[in-house]
Parts: sequence; C-alpha cells; structure tokens
Amino acid sequence: MERKWWHGKTAYQIYPKSFCDSNGDGIGDIQGIISKLDYLKELGVDILWLSPIYCSPCADQGYDISDYYRIDPQFGTMEDMDELLAEAKKRDMYILMDLVVNHCSDEHEWFQKAKKDPEGEYGKMFYLQKVTDGKLLCNWRSYFGGPVWDRLEEGSDWYYFHAFHKKQPDLNWENPKLREAVYRMINWWLDKGLAGFRIDAIINIKKVLPFRDYPADRDDGLCSIQRMLADAKGVGEFLGEMRDKSFALHDAFTVGEVFNEKDEELPDFIGDGGYFSTMFDFKGTLLGKSEQGWYASRIPTPDEYRDACFENQKRVQKVGFLANIIENHDEPRGVSHYIPQGDCCDRSKKMLAALYFLLRGLPFLYQGQELGMENTIFSDISEVDDISTLDEYQVALRAGYSPKEALDIVAHYSRDNARTPFQWDGSEKAGFTTGTPWLPLNPNHTKIHAEQQQADAESVYAFYKQLIALRNDEEWKETLVYGELLPILTEEKNLMAYYRKGEKTVLVIGNFQKEARTVKLPCHIQTILLQNLTKEEQKEWEQAQKEGEIHLEGYQVVVAEALQ
Ligand code: GLC
Ligand code: CA
Repeated sequence: MERKWWHGKTAYQIYPKSFCDSNGDGIGDIQGIISKLDYLKELGVDILWLSPIYCSPCADQGYDISDYYRIDPQFGTMEDMDELLAEAKKRDMYILMDLVVNHCSDEHEWFQKAKKDPEGEYGKMFYLQKVTDGKLLCNWRSYFGGPVWDRLEEGSDWYYFHAFHKKQPDLNWENPKLREAVYRMINWWLDKGLAGFRIDAIINIKKVLPFRDYPADRDDGLCSIQRMLADAKGVGEFLGEMRDKSFALHDAFTVGEVFNEKDEELPDFIGDGGYFSTMFDFKGTLLGKSEQGWYASRIPTPDEYRDACFENQKRVQKVGFLANIIENHDEPRGVSHYIPQGDCCDRSKKMLAALYFLLRGLPFLYQGQELGMENTIFSDISEVDDISTLDEYQVALRAGYSPKEALDIVAHYSRDNARTPFQWDGSEKAGFTTGTPWLPLNPNHTKIHAEQQQADAESVYAFYKQLIALRNDEEWKETLVYGELLPILTEEKNLMAYYRKGEKTVLVIGNFQKEARTVKLPCHIQTILLQNLTKEEQKEWEQAQKEGEIHLEGYQVVVAEALQ
C-alpha cells in the first residue's frame, strides 16, 4: 500500500451551524470556527471537515445548495473563508468542504431555468419526465419519505426526481455537460487551497435506467431506493472520471459517504489510485437499522458492535484505509447509542473512545464527541428541526404507535441529537452564542462542557487528547497507524479486544459491561500506555493483577504494549 500524508492524521467534523457563533445571531459561523482553531490544534486534530456552508435555503441544513460558488451569508463571506484557509494553514491544519453533487437545491439557478424550459439545456441537468396518465415513472421511496417524484410546478405535467427531500432535485450525471460543470466547480475550490472534500451521498448518482418499479416493501406502495441502488451498475465510470478530472490533479484528500459497495469493488474505491482516499466505515451505524423505519430498529449490543468493526477491518486492511467514526451529524451521539442505556459515564465514554480510535484507519471525531456530548431530550415533536426525524415520526404513527411512543422512538435516532450547539462553557448559552441558539442546547450543558474538561486531567476531553497524542507518538505511530489489526478473545461476551501488530504489538482491551471481570490473556503485558481508571481507582486495580490474566473493572479499557 502506498503511504499517504494523511494516514497518520486525525480528522474532525465541524457542523458549522452549531459550532461557535461569533455575532450573536444564534447561528454558528466561519469567524466562530476561526476563533476555535487553537482549541482544535490543542486537542491534536489535523484535518477539519466542514459540513456545507454554501448558499442554501437550508431545507436540509445546507445539503441543498443553491450556489456552489458562494458562502451562505449566515455563515459569513468568501473573505472569511479565505481567512479560515490561511489560519488553518498557519497551524498545519487542512480544510475539507462537503461536496454535495448528487443533488442541488430547487432554488439553484439551474433548476429555476429547468422549470421555465423543461425541454431545454437546463432541463437536461435534472431527471425530468412528462407524465400524462398520472402514473409515476417508478415507485421508489425518497430517503426522507414519499415518492421520489414531484411536480415541477403546480398543475404541470412535468415531474422531477429527488432521492432526498423535494427541495433537493437530483442532478443528471448521465449528462456530460453537468459532469463538466461539477468538475469545474471542484477544481475552483481546490485551487483556492482546500485539502479536499467529504463527498456526500455519492453512490446515488447512478440510477437504474430506464426507471422501473420494484415490489413495494411498505403499505405506501413504494419501495426503498436502496433496492434500486443494489442493481445500479456503472457508478465507477463517473467516480473515476471525477477523480481524474479534479481530485487527482490536486492530490486532494477525499472521503466518500459510501454505503453499499461490494467486497470486490473495494480496491476501486479506496485501493491505491482509487476513486477516493478513504470512505467512512458505516458498519456500526447500520447495525440494527430496519428498512421499515426507526420504529422497527434495534440498538446494537456490544458484541454486535465489536463483530461489525472486526469484520470491516478484516475486509479492508489489505486494500486501504477506512475512516472510523462513532457518530456524525446524521446519527445519534455515539456514547448514547453504543453504550448500554443507563451506563453512560466518563469511564464508559473513554472506553468506547479508545476501542474505536485505535482501530486501523483514519479516526474522525465529530464536534463535541471529545467532551462525551450525549443525546438531547425532546419533550415535544415541535422541538424537532430535522426533516428526517419528522418523517420517521409520521412513519411510527402510521405503524400504530401513540404520539408519546413515536416521540420516544425518534428521540433516540434523531439527527438533531448531534446538532445541538457545542458546549463551550457552563454559562446560560454554553458559550456558543450571546443570542438565542437556532436549536435548543442540550440541558446537560451546565455539566458537560469544554471549559471544565480542559481544566480536568481526568476528563473525556483529556483522554481524547491522550489518544491522539499516543497515535502521534514516534514510538507507537508506525504500529498504531499501519499495524495489522488482529481480533482476540472474540469468544468472550461483552469484551472487545485486539492487537495492533506492526513494529511492536499493542493490545487494546475493553470490558464492555458494568460488571468487573478477569480474563486470561494470550500475551504478557509489558507497559501500559493508556487506561481509563482515575488515579484513585488505579492503585487498587494494580494490586488485583496476576500474571497471565487481566482483571478489568466495569467499562475499563487498557492499551498496552504486549509481548507474546
Ligand atoms: C448525506 C448527509 C445528510 C443529508 C443527505 C442529503 O447523507 O450526510 O445530512 O441529509 O446526504 O444530502
Ligand atoms: Ca452567527
């Protein structure tokens, strides 16, 4: 495998709207990000991915772009963006933007022109179809509910295709003119000094054509769009062209949002010279999710989480690097999702942190994860902003759940959990804004916040800092970045343990339950590099150790040099 500059880095996702507000309008902005670059540098992260800040009517929080060449005024100006790029560079940090090109906004100039003249040049930038017999061209369900087809205008016979929200019309990638326009835009941004992109929903750009029905999978008569994606062939031609005509010209770093690649396609996606540098490992996030909707989904057990991680590591480690996450702006908070209910505490949060962070691949943190930010509390559906949560609420009601039950269901999975403002300090507005935050703060912001954790050597924040430093440490870097991952003790319940084997052998072992336990070890522990007990707790624990085995407190994790 060819070595790349980014392999040993740590990445961090910023959700700009909720990160830091510099002017008191309740909305995070670019100047806010600039003011926190030193905080991020101190934490130790290198690559920053910004969720979209382009002009957008914000039907899907910026993932509906109306002008790819401008910054939305709510986030600042292009001068602010240039300043951010320059300030990041001063600190040896890299900026990624979000590349959202499966669709644009219905308020984008192209779509506006297409509406006026569906058969003209701009009509061909989208999937438009005339329907006179009232029968839609296919019965696929959009990700945010309802059919993928909507009328171009009230009373019109013309329909357009949208895989996501009706304000997100899909761009027609079959049209070479559209593709050239996209590559021009990408190159324009890369010329400005971006390090690269996170690439949104990219697998959706290839459709099964001509459009056709699939058997319905719910009583709405529609079928999951995933069903079509599994059949769609040829996305690689588009992706390869995009790489050659844009990313490769700049040696840009790219991370794809890819869900359904097949094993044999992995080398094409993330092997040497692949379409992308890396892509997210969504095996964990997909666990327990049901096609029927959130109401039928199940929270994964610790063993399922472990097995999913190991399976993907095995699949990928000969080919390339995955981007490892426990959460992002589309998911519940990782600590609220993977740690069994009621057991979420500093110790268990640190355990989860070490277990995922030291997997082979590029670790991504999502803002607030370093503080152990948790899911928020919703007392009424009117407090929800996210369109996908609102849709899933309706789905749960239709499935027969009461409004109270439906709210409880969506409260766990809601994307808003990750979107509540960053908790900078314990003051009334959490140091996020001086105004009214666009989305209510998590009520726990008085307890969980950066100011307190930065001053506390035993905080979750301090632990993340140690993890990042360990992976950067000259002595361990080679092993932790490139070393093979070997699962061990997989027959044990609620235990996740593995070796990273490179120049040296590092053991990572986490007791994924609240009960203490003793495990026979297949190795000898040489030196402990990191563990998550407090100084107080540590003394007693050390006395409980015996040769050949390891005693672990509930939710304890140990990272150690091992001799076999
Ligand atoms: C991706 C984004 C998500 C967005 C969707 C449509 O999945 O992460 O936030 O809603 O694409 O752009
Ligand atoms: Ca602002």
